[in-house]
Amino acid sequence: MSDGATARGSATEREEARKTAEGLEHLSGFGNEHSSEAVPGALPVGRNSPQRAPLGLYAEQLSGSAFTEPRAVNRRSWLYRIRPSAAHPAFTRTGNGALRSAPFTQTVPDPNRLRWNPLPAPAEGTDFLAGLWTLGGNGDVTQRSGMAVHLYHADTTMRRVFSDADGELLIVPERGGLLLCTEFGLLHVEPGHIALIPRGVRFRVELLDETVRGYVCENYGAPFRLPDLGPIGANGLANARDFRAPVAAYEDVEGPVEVVNKFCGNLWAATYDHSPLDVVAWHGNHVPYAYDLRRFNVMGTVSYDHPDPSIFTVLTSPSDTPGLAGVDFVVFAPRWLVGEDTFRPPYFHRNVMSEYMGLIEGAYDAKTAGEGGFVPGGGSLHNMMSAHGPDRETFDRASAAELRPQKIDDGLAFMFETRWPVSLTPQAARAEHLQQGYDDVWQGLERHFRSLH
Ligand SMILES: [Fe+2]
Repeated sequence: MSDGATARGSATEREEARKTAEGLEHLSGFGNEHSSEAVPGALPVGRNSPQRAPLGLYAEQLSGSAFTEPRAVNRRSWLYRIRPSAAHPAFTRTGNGALRSAPFTQTVPDPNRLRWNPLPAPAEGTDFLAGLWTLGGNGDVTQRSGMAVHLYHADTTMRRVFSDADGELLIVPERGGLLLCTEFGLLHVEPGHIALIPRGVRFRVELLDETVRGYVCENYGAPFRLPDLGPIGANGLANARDFRAPVAAYEDVEGPVEVVNKFCGNLWAATYDHSPLDVVAWHGNHVPYAYDLRRFNVMGTVSYDHPDPSIFTVLTSPSDTPGLAGVDFVVFAPRWLVGEDTFRPPYFHRNVMSEYMGLIEGAYDAKTAGEGGFVPGGGSLHNMMSAHGPDRETFDRASAAELRPQKIDDGLAFMFETRWPVSLTPQAARAEHLQQGYDDVWQGLERHFRSLH
């Protein structure tokens, strides 16, 4: 290799990837029927599976929902590819690394409030897949219910291809840009964006920066969708048109390619004799997508009180019970605070839902920033009915603040909020980066009560 290339990929490679990433076109919309062809004429007209697909391609359907689910929630795409996905050798078990899956039964569920510093740097040569480290989760992959919280920290572009049969992957970069090369085409995300890889879709992560770090919600349940808006009306929160789907792009690569499949909690690998990212054209609504969280149309009070944070829901994975999400993805984006006679930071709270929070940049308005605090790349877990809320410093400040209109624009935090408690993996429960003494932030909240009698 030349120009200082290492196992992690050369600066030239990263520059090339960045050039590709920044020139990408995309399709606009969420949940709609897209169609795209990398070669004109590759997409059949008027039918999905003609006797002979155009250009000698193979036609293949990828189902993200049961055939019979209602049209409004039915997800499937038709792929027109150089070789059918079925053309592969047997998969054999490979190491799971630090990736774990539900059910999470190895630790006793912990009612304590917990907070972690960022994931330590990985060993040199760690790609996105090897860099996945599971904090915990709930549910059961074999029941297609629940979720897992993963973090990733990587320094190497993937030379292999990954797909997850257990769930969809919501990727939340915190440091470093990613070029996601998927069966459907390429997506570019930077910190402040999210990307979603649907269940079963194959992809490779190329690095646009020397190291990348972030969070992943693996959603075993119903695919994320936009929340209903109710009385908000027809617009607002995450607007559908701001979601980006890739345009078709394919690799015509003959030669050994390692393909790793996560299935019922374990990683399985096979060496193909070609790249499975060989889809020349596709149409459908089961597609990867990306979204810039800064485009979130934040709603809030213009009178008094802090609204419940569900007002900040970007995506929701509903359960069989109306309004009860398997997991919600919520963003705390820049916004104005104008509430009169209001304690403006998030209130003290005990919640039947369980809350994992992460920080993409800056600070969060209910938690003190800085070393050992709530820092970008770190995270906190407030499990079912654990008491949380502003720390003492925040309480003191917000209780005394002059209530002028105030712009919150120094941070981007998010939450995975889930219906079931999050059980930890042993590696998360015993991690060196698990903060000791998190409870102390609520110490010193003084008694102010004075009886008038
Ligand atoms: Fe809360």
